[in-house]
Amino acid sequence: MSRKSTIAGVAVAVIVLVQFIPVTRVNPPVEEEIVAPAEVQRVLERSCYDCHSFESRWPWYARVAPASWYVTRHVNEAREHMNFSTWNRYDAEKRADHIEEIGEEVGEGKMPLKSYLLLHRGARLSEEERATIRRWVEAYSPNGSPPDTSP
Ligand code: HEC
Repeated sequence: MSRKSTIAGVAVAVIVLVQFIPVTRVNPPVEEEIVAPAEVQRVLERSCYDCHSFESRWPWYARVAPASWYVTRHVNEAREHMNFSTWNRYDAEKRADHIEEIGEEVGEGKMPLKSYLLLHRGARLSEEERATIRRWVEAYSPNGSPPDTSP
């Protein structure tokens, strides 16, 4: 066997072997979902739920190492920071914090993550959708009802 084919053989063996390293790729049951107006909910589900919920749609490459490590790390990290499927675990103050952060992250174009948008073009937010999120964040009050705007 030539040196080249030995190296190629070892590379193939390594690629095959790393597939057996276990990764956690699970969708636990939804507890209590965030409650938002329908047009906001649609945006969150389409562009955020793959990472920030227990309803992730796992792409095929989430089954193939090393891409699977990258995808699951992002999802686990995102769920830890903020999970729309366990909204019941946050008190009114934490919910208000998260919603304010959503306004910031979306306003600054930091969320959804750029690397995600490369492969999920449909998750891009239009100007109109950004405005929808912004209005929702501005109108949000922790008791869940819109602020009283009557004179
Ligand atoms: C590809 C996965 C992915 C998607 C899709 C995604 N996020 Fe994130 N998000 C993360 C990760 C990872 C973090 C934590 C690390 C960081 O802040 O970059 C995070 C952090 C956040 C935070 C900060 C939470 C905190 O505790 O500070 C907010 C707010 C947020 N995301 C909102 C959103 C919104 C809104 C969307 C949809 C428009 C979205 N994200 C889509 C991966 C994602």
